[in-house]
Amino acid sequence: MLEQIKHTAAFIQERIAGFRPEVGIILGTGLGGLVEHIDVKHAVEYADIPDFPVSTVEGHRGRLIFGLLGGRRIVAMQGRFHYYEGYTPQQVVFPVRVMKMLGIERLFVSNASGGTNPTFRVGDLMVITDHINLIPNPLIGRNLDELGPRFPDMKHAYDPALIALATEIAGRERIKLQYGCYVGLTGPTFETPHEYGYVRAIGGDAVGMSTTPEIIAARHMGLPCFGVSIITDLASDESVSHEIVQQQGRRAEAEMSRLFIGMLERLA
Ligand code: HPA
Repeated sequence: MLEQIKHTAAFIQERIAGFRPEVGIILGTGLGGLVEHIDVKHAVEYADIPDFPVSTVEGHRGRLIFGLLGGRRIVAMQGRFHYYEGYTPQQVVFPVRVMKMLGIERLFVSNASGGTNPTFRVGDLMVITDHINLIPNPLIGRNLDELGPRFPDMKHAYDPALIALATEIAGRERIKLQYGCYVGLTGPTFETPHEYGYVRAIGGDAVGMSTTPEIIAARHMGLPCFGVSIITDLASDESVSHEIVQQQGRRAEAEMSRLFIGMLERLA
């Protein structure tokens, strides 16, 4: 596994000619709008990268974009991998490990999720302050000691300083933020009414089918993480579909982009 990660990173390094990203960004469902703000230096299709999984979900394009955003050198994953697509948990987090090898010092993540907190509204941006992972853990198996410890601390899975920075930028940009705990489930089914009730009962404010594996892999490697969920639907809604999720995701793109760019500009 470690050899694969190094091999893939070396392949990409050759393609990007010495470009060293500082921040990795995973763009979730319908959040491709951030891409338009990137001053793109290199783009590498997943299909061309040895050992990279290939995205199968509609609305997820598969490429790594290297460029400048908010004055930072970034690498953005346009298209991420989900456990429900049939990838192993290790495949899901493979790109995060490769991005770390390429030099990233922080990981920013966005996703779409269903709101279980009754005070949330569709279109809200929820800063993820913690998570409950109910997807098979990507660190199961022999520990890759070179990447991180056998038993990683998850007390500050979402970096308090980055959360504080988001609050500051949102205040300046007049962006309303919610805060809460994201629950990662496998999907691909959306939740039954009782499953939404369960998410709420265990302390979840929002539920989705991604993010927690990548954050676990990133924390294993000591990367400070920041995540935002777009609330695309509510547990109390009559119904939900992939189309609704994508449509609402697109609506929130502009605010999301402003928040991320503002944060990148102000990173220490
Ligand atoms: N449940 C799970 N995943 C989701 C949802 C939801 O309601 N909305 C967007 N992704």
